[in-house]
Amino acid sequence: MTTAQQPLPSGFGAASTAEEVIKGVDLTGKVAIVTGGYSGIGLETARVLRSAGADVVVPARDLRRARAALETVPGAEVEHLDLLDPASIDAFAEKFLASGRPLHILVDSAGIMATPLTRDARGYEAQFATNHLGHFQLAARLWPALVAAGGARVVSVSSRGIRFGGVDFDDLHFERRPYEPFVAYGQSKTANALFAVELDRRGRSQGVRAFAVHPGIIIDTGLAKHVPAEAVRASGAVDAQGRPVRDPARQLKTVAQGAATSVWCATDPRLAGLGGVYCENCDISPLVAPEEEAAWRAGAETPGVLPYAVDPEAAARLWEVSERLTA
Ligand SMILES: NC(=O)c1ccc[n+]([C@@H]2O[C@H](COP(=O)([O-])OP(=O)(O)OC[C@H]3O[C@@H](n4cnc5c(N)ncnc54)[C@H](OP(=O)(O)O)[C@@H]3O)[C@@H](O)[C@H]2O)c1
Repeated sequence: MTTAQQPLPSGFGAASTAEEVIKGVDLTGKVAIVTGGYSGIGLETARVLRSAGADVVVPARDLRRARAALETVPGAEVEHLDLLDPASIDAFAEKFLASGRPLHILVDSAGIMATPLTRDARGYEAQFATNHLGHFQLAARLWPALVAAGGARVVSVSSRGIRFGGVDFDDLHFERRPYEPFVAYGQSKTANALFAVELDRRGRSQGVRAFAVHPGIIIDTGLAKHVPAEAVRASGAVDAQGRPVRDPARQLKTVAQGAATSVWCATDPRLAGLGGVYCENCDISPLVAPEEEAAWRAGAETPGVLPYAVDPEAAARLWEVSERLTA
């Protein structure tokens, strides 16, 4: 398999913040949509894109909470969207398209992790439906606006959680296998990475490029609410007193550092002409070779992406399945 997983190097690193990455970038006249842009990494991404001059739209399933969170981001627009509700995705996209605006940046930062088994109204497993299918449908419906930008980037926020498993095409919704919260998270995050590969392949001739991102481990966001406190402590992400441990070299990042790779992928001119790659620490990740996989899994110090998360054949298959599942 040949891939474009070649670090640049970018000049940034694990400790770089979103503000450092966007320094000198002027987004005046550009339009960005940031899902999940009212919490955690997404909120910081929205704030920094807005500070560089972009018009920022934040789709939210809880408008009141989103407006409160975005008080720190003057001018950010909030619109209703629930990634588990296909009709709300269509309504959001229709309203955006009706505004006649192009879409230069789409950051898919919304996500849930390790939830108890939940199914949406279609019977789809909720992590796959939220993290992947909702974003798939959103990008598909917004496609005319992405093309109209004449140079757009889609950032699919994935995770090192890809290590928990690939996409099980024979049982996407855990109907025949026991449900494991982190296996389902891993499936959805691998799907996020594969989505960027195929979206980029299909979009590049129309100026739409896509990137997948592992942001790092950022413990002070809303993501870990379903993970027991003992498991969080055992992971080393917090100390005995429950305070976040910061060590970007081991992926243990602040929110400002966690948003940096999304912002880098969305805006850095050095990525012009590139796409379909998985990134972390503000650079393109190397592919993990089979003989390196055990070491990669044992510690978070070594960057890298597992081949199954950027496999073009799996990416094309996931695209076709996702089209069927989102009609
Ligand atoms: N934090 C980490 O260590 C880490 C590591 C690797 C990858 N990531 C990825 O980074 C992304 C951002 O995570 P975060 O840490 O910033 O978490 P967060 O603070 O919980 O933010 C997640 C956002 O997604 C929104 N969301 C969830 N379900 C939604 C739905 N059905 N419709 C619309 N919005 C929905 C949430 O809204 P509500 O508040 O309404 O639920 C929230 O605004 C996620 O994709 C996550 O998988 C995070």
